[in-house]
Amino acid sequence: MKDAVKVMQKFDDIKKFVQGVMSEKRFAHTMGVAEEASRLAGIWDVNPEKAYLAGLIHDVAKELPYSDAKRIIESSGLLDDGDAFPDSVALHGFMAAHIAKTKLNITDEDVLNAARYHTTGRVGMSVLEKIIYVADFTEQGRPYPQAKEVREISERDLDAAVLREADHVIKFIIDSGRVLCTTTVEVRNSFLNNSKRG
Ligand SMILES: [Fe+2]
Ligand SMILES: [Fe+2]
Repeated sequence: MKDAVKVMQKFDDIKKFVQGVMSEKRFAHTMGVAEEASRLAGIWDVNPEKAYLAGLIHDVAKELPYSDAKRIIESSGLLDDGDAFPDSVALHGFMAAHIAKTKLNITDEDVLNAARYHTTGRVGMSVLEKIIYVADFTEQGRPYPQAKEVREISERDLDAAVLREADHVIKFIIDSGRVLCTTTVEVRNSFLNNSKRG
């Protein structure tokens, strides 16, 4: 706990910036993700400061209007040639990485990628990317029972937690009649295949 407080103080300016661009509710979620990510980092041998920082920035662009984010991404050449343009759900992760780099001077690529891919995940995620993907779903403020289930799994098997979360997300998106992002399906299949191999 003492360490978590120290880490929080270290990132005080970033925290203030983040707090200034989002609602109180989203800021509470953000802090929940930062804390859960730093807890998981302790279990999975990742630098807890990096995990805390990635949690702190992951939703920094969530309340930026889609049209603004789209314009910024298009004009700044953020996507590699051949990259599909991210859909509205995935876009705020890309935008978060951009803001973190240009406004908050965060240069650590793993931290930036953890924010960039936090909504859909991606095949070949780093441990930190998995931690942010999971913590976004399981932070203490999440009210649904699936969060508790995935949180428990994440303490003993991080890959199994990613897989279970992807299952829940896919089911939820289908049940709510929304368009399913193909990356989420690819992530789910890749983790499922790996779990069968292992
Ligand atoms: Fe998000
Ligand atoms: Fe989030």
